[in-house]
Amino acid sequence: MSAVVVVGAQWGDEGKGKVVDLYAPYAELVVRYAGGANAGHTLVVNGEKLILHLIPSGILHEQTKCVVGQGTVIDPAVFLEEIEALSARRVATDGRLLVSQRAHVVLPHHKLIDGLREKKSNEAIGTTKRGIGPCYEDKVARRGVRMGDLLDIEVLRGKLDANLESWRPVAEDLGGTLPSAEEVAAQYAALGEALRRYIGDAAAIVRASIRAEEKILLEGAQGTMLDIDNGTYPFVTSSNAVAGGACAGAGIGPTHIRRAVGIAKAYTTRVGGGPFPTELEDETGQLLRDAGAEYGSTTGRPRRCGWLDLVALRHAVTVNGLGELAITKLDVLSAVDAIMLCVAYELDGERLDYPPYERLEAVQPIYETLEGWDEDLSGCRTRADLPAAAQAYLARIEQEVGCPIGVVSVGPDREDTADLQDPFGA
Ligand code: GDP
Ligand code: IMO
Ligand code: MG
Repeated sequence: MSAVVVVGAQWGDEGKGKVVDLYAPYAELVVRYAGGANAGHTLVVNGEKLILHLIPSGILHEQTKCVVGQGTVIDPAVFLEEIEALSARRVATDGRLLVSQRAHVVLPHHKLIDGLREKKSNEAIGTTKRGIGPCYEDKVARRGVRMGDLLDIEVLRGKLDANLESWRPVAEDLGGTLPSAEEVAAQYAALGEALRRYIGDAAAIVRASIRAEEKILLEGAQGTMLDIDNGTYPFVTSSNAVAGGACAGAGIGPTHIRRAVGIAKAYTTRVGGGPFPTELEDETGQLLRDAGAEYGSTTGRPRRCGWLDLVALRHAVTVNGLGELAITKLDVLSAVDAIMLCVAYELDGERLDYPPYERLEAVQPIYETLEGWDEDLSGCRTRADLPAAAQAYLARIEQEVGCPIGVVSVGPDREDTADLQDPFGA
């Protein structure tokens, strides 16, 4: 049992990138298992910020191998840009970064259709317009183009012809014009050529790592409430963000997974549409947005902000089988006076401890009010260093969701961390 999954326990942007960067020194291999360039994972080291969309957040630790698994969808131009940005920072990727030949390729028309649908729909999902939905649609319809296909222009051209034809009625209906297969084939074959040494049998690396009993970190994207099967459908992404998605997306059996660590902010944010029971559309919400710099890492959109929702978190503990929580952005709560904690929902006069199926927009949060604190937490390195009110807040979360808290993050920088421990430990 040598693998640990790092999974978003809320609606994404919980700080998975930071936690993976903290855990990576304990691992030999880091694998991204789902999603695509809709993700934006931020790493801050000595005040220097790096946002990764596709490359695993372990990449700054040069002894760690990084793999992008078959469960992901890849925009090859974004992947290349990230390699170049790392190279400009003198981070070597050659020989330690590989993307699965089976990962699906996000094509220009996927982004076109995603954008047109968002514009046309009355009930827009608020996607990142990175072509994620249409790309996964192609995958499930078994007509997708995969990273390995980029390495042979004839194969690529044939697949593109068929693929574009299947989208033609959709594009026409939305008033869009599809690019020509020839144009896309030339552009994407060139990208394939530029990425040739990074495309290969990622599953073989994972297999060898398992056999060698290496420690493997499985990096999730998005979050539990955005999972296609366990989230707030249809306001979700198009993949399995939950810990279970790591098995299929990285090619690893559940019996190899030692532990799933859920990452949760000390409050809640959501980008895009869909229900959000604890949302604060008032000054306090704005205070959290300002104090937490809550603007999307990928799209720059302001994130919707609200109190911590323990009903959603309990759901995350269950569906991911969380053995531990990592709480991030505790420092941000220094900006508010009293803190409200949603411990249950009320729906039709009934108290609910778990989210109701398809009726999340109708629930009323039941809050407990806790004492706040106003100290700067960024220098705290253990829970004992935190003000008593912050310690009490964490203890209340643990008690309500039945899951211990390990790491506590008190600032964006790698250093601003309390109680970091080896996630592969006992
Ligand atoms: P991810 O998608 O889960 O990796 O999270 P994002 O990178 O999209 O968003 C998290 C944001 O919060 C980033 O800007 C991080 O630099 C920042 N961040 C992470 N942990 C902390 C923390 O403990 N305190 C503060 N103030 N910011 C944090
Ligand atoms: P990370 O990995 C936050 C949201 C979008 C939208 C919905 C569907 O950084 O936590 P999509 O483009 O996937 O079809 O959009 O999912 N979304 C995210 N929200 N963090 C993310 O990733 C997200 N990836 C997608 O805002 O509501
Ligand atoms: Mg993010």
